[in-house]
Amino acid sequence: MALSQSGATRDHWSSRSAFILAAVGSAVGLGNLWRFPAEAGANGGGAFVLFYIACVLLIGLPILLSETLIGRHGQSAAPESVRRVASASRASPRWDILAGMGVLAAFLILSFYCVVGGWVLYYIGVFIGDIFTSGIAGGAFEGQSAEAVEALLPDLFANGPMMVGMNFVFLAVTLYFVARGVSGGIEIVANYMMPAFFILLVAITIYGAFGGAFTQTLDYLFTFEPEKLTGPVMLAALGQAFFSLSLGVAGMITYGGYVGRNVNLAGTSAIIASADTLVALLAGLCLFPIVFAAGLAVGAGPGLMFQTLPHAFQEMPFGSVVGLLFFVMVGFAALTSSVALLEVPTAWMIDRFRIVRPLSAIIVAAGAMTLGALAALSFNVLSDWHPLGFIPVFEGQGFFDVLDGLTAKFFMPIGAILTAIFVGWVADRKLIDMENGLGGALHLFWLFLVRFLCPIALVGILVVGIFPGLFD
Ligand code: TRP
Repeated sequence: MALSQSGATRDHWSSRSAFILAAVGSAVGLGNLWRFPAEAGANGGGAFVLFYIACVLLIGLPILLSETLIGRHGQSAAPESVRRVASASRASPRWDILAGMGVLAAFLILSFYCVVGGWVLYYIGVFIGDIFTSGIAGGAFEGQSAEAVEALLPDLFANGPMMVGMNFVFLAVTLYFVARGVSGGIEIVANYMMPAFFILLVAITIYGAFGGAFTQTLDYLFTFEPEKLTGPVMLAALGQAFFSLSLGVAGMITYGGYVGRNVNLAGTSAIIASADTLVALLAGLCLFPIVFAAGLAVGAGPGLMFQTLPHAFQEMPFGSVVGLLFFVMVGFAALTSSVALLEVPTAWMIDRFRIVRPLSAIIVAAGAMTLGALAALSFNVLSDWHPLGFIPVFEGQGFFDVLDGLTAKFFMPIGAILTAIFVGWVADRKLIDMENGLGGALHLFWLFLVRFLCPIALVGILVVGIFPGLFD
């Protein structure tokens, strides 16, 4: 039915605040809680964090507005939305490649994202078990040394079948909500889980602040050492900014497609970006004191949240309860993002092949489960498999890390470069002026960022990130 694609009958967010909650839910997720502290830890702390904030303000925010405005104008799945903007601007419909790449990238992210979602479920189980075995007053291993705890815990990362099973459960929950639709499923998740998430985050941050290592954390996160700002660190910070804001992979074009005409996109974009950045910083302030206080290493990379932190909880008073609440909170944030990730390719399939929503979502989820299982097993059974090992940046990396690096360091920046050129140079000026909700000097500044700063900075960072030796 052709009508179902028109703005009039398509499913929409039920209100402006529903859109904001869902978009903040999409942005705030494992990217803020797991990936941001891990990347900051692996890339030297302060220099990474400050460059990350600059990327959010000068590149992320203008691109976020560009994506939502393409989506809102197009009122369709991402590639079709780009084609509609192109056709209104008498430009080539082939610009839809920027969204096509995005749909593929969102699918790749979804597949490893749900692996991490599975780790979250696993630890929810571990802490529930701890409460049953040792009550709520203590951590399961309170008073024992980090090494002793390490020896006691079963290692999730060695357990392939457990990881794949948990991955399946997390993906199935995601699938359930996406199959129910935009206003009847995705919105419901955001409506309940985002407020609960914020309350838990603030509570746990306060708890961590009393743990003692707060000033050490502030030093670590905000001391700027310019010599640490190398090309790869800049690219990592940029990739993190895009990952965290759900940019460069057609995510915000897709969500923008369900936004009504009356919503001011500039204002909502600013709210989304601020909330997301605030949560990333709070997550850092919440995690590192706990890690420092337990005397554990910060440079643990991806293991920070799923190996280091659980041990820290298990050594603290009330650690089992706080640990449980912590991972429930992470699970809420993860789910509001995984539904967004699944929605991107699902919306595309509905639009492209006219398959009904539940079936489209099932097909995408089945594909993501297949890749996800391979990603999960790359930590154990398949640890010797280095799929893109012949490319220097992926040398020695397993499938999980390749999926993550490929999307954050290639797909996202390239998608963003194309978006900036498309919106800044190709799309019709009147259309853009009408959609973006900006006036006067702010409008000109935004246009300057999208036309000049974003493409140039993105190309520059991509080059120094991939070829760090180039300017030595
Ligand atoms: N922003 C999400 C997070 O921080 C992850 C993410 C990346 C995403 N790209 C996306 C979510 C696209 C939805 C759509 O966890």
